[in-house]
Formats: sequence, C-alpha cells, structure tokens
Amino acid sequence: MNNSMTVYINGQPLVVAAGTSAAAALAIAGIDATHFSVTGMPRGPVCGMGICFECSATIDGRPRQRTCQIVCRPKMEIRTDDKV
Ligand code: FES
Repeated sequence: MNNSMTVYINGQPLVVAAGTSAAAALAIAGIDATHFSVTGMPRGPVCGMGICFECSATIDGRPRQRTCQIVCRPKMEIRTDDKV
C-alpha cells in the first residue's frame, strides 16, 4: 500500500502523505500566503476549519477553494495567486 502521492504546487511537484490537506501541502512547500486581499495584503490560512476562506487557492482549475478543507489527491494541481 502506498501512503504517499505527488501533488503540484504552482507547477512544482511535492510528495505528501495520504490524508494531507492542500493547506498542509502548501505549508510543507514553504508557502504561507495563497492570495492577496482587496487591499493588497498577502493572505493565508487562519482558522484551519473552513470558516475564514483566507486559505483560498485554485485547485485543479477551480478558483477560491478552501485549501484547509480539501485532502490532496494524486496529481492535484494547487495554484496560489500569481502575485504571492
Ligand atoms: S483556513 Fe480558514 S477556511 Fe481555510
């Protein structure tokens, strides 16, 4: 049984354990901001439980997904805001 998988963060491969959230994968990759606020401030995970939406990123082409609520799947593509 294989307990790891490769996901892609801004095009870069990252091997994560099964059950890793997309937010955790971003943290493992050293990325602490996923997008910018309307005032231009970098934003990243705050609550870790799906309420604040501060962890939003594009996942498999779907924008504004809460990365703390999504478990990594093999070959998942996670993209942060281009300005981050
Ligand atoms: S960290 Fe708050 S919704 Fe994801």
